[in-house]
Amino acid sequence: MTEHAYSEPERAAVYRAIAERRDMRHFTGGEVAPQVLQRLLAAAHQAPSVGLMQPWRFIRIRRPALREAIYQLVEQERVRTAEALGERADDFMKLKVEGVRDCAELLVVALMEGREQHVFGRRTLPEMDLASLSCAVQNLWLAARAEGLGMGWVSLFDPEQLGRLLNIPAGGKPMAVLCLGPVEAFYPAPMLVLEGWAEEKPLQELLFEDSWGAAS
Ligand SMILES: Cc1cc2nc3c(=O)[nH]c(=O)nc-3n(C[C@H](O)[C@H](O)[C@H](O)COP(=O)(O)O)c2cc1C
Repeated sequence: MTEHAYSEPERAAVYRAIAERRDMRHFTGGEVAPQVLQRLLAAAHQAPSVGLMQPWRFIRIRRPALREAIYQLVEQERVRTAEALGERADDFMKLKVEGVRDCAELLVVALMEGREQHVFGRRTLPEMDLASLSCAVQNLWLAARAEGLGMGWVSLFDPEQLGRLLNIPAGGKPMAVLCLGPVEAFYPAPMLVLEGWAEEKPLQELLFEDSWGAAS
């Protein structure tokens, strides 16, 4: 610990938000107060980004017909994903993988156009733009948990079709449909674990020393 550390309760709050953040798919409608939404978006916008590129663009979905069109895109992709999963198709179709119709707020996060001009930190790793956008989403996710709001990242959609729907310019790309809002309760563990779809690996299995695969 250094002299720059937060107080014990402040540190506990940070770790608590990290531990209790969940990808939520069940929402209770309602609304997100405008000042809360503003705080959440400001938190997202404070994320780190490669070369200070700030490649994120947030589109708040207001029109019900547009929300429904996004729902239909997600539904289309959900069926295609099930087909691609083969023998796990039926189990996949039983999972709830989005809360687009039920959440209080729907946001789309897209990568900006003209990203090829940003070379700093991306010459060999162009995907650092997406890494930066993901940092913004994680900030939003954690801040939402602290505010008592659930959030779910939905990536089941055709980006070209969603881009057309939202007038995203050529070169831009939607990466996240975010369902945000009040929830009845936060899942006590990842829903995919609770549903028996996947298992979490312990950190120890993913932590190496000096060489890939070498146990620490
Ligand atoms: C980039 C990204 C895309 C995701 N896309 C979806 C999705 O389309 N549908 C879904 O139900 N969950 C999606 N998730 C949520 C993951 O399934 C979830 O994070 C994981 O199961 C762990 O659960 P937790 O977030 O509650 O810890 C996505 C998560 C990330 C980080």
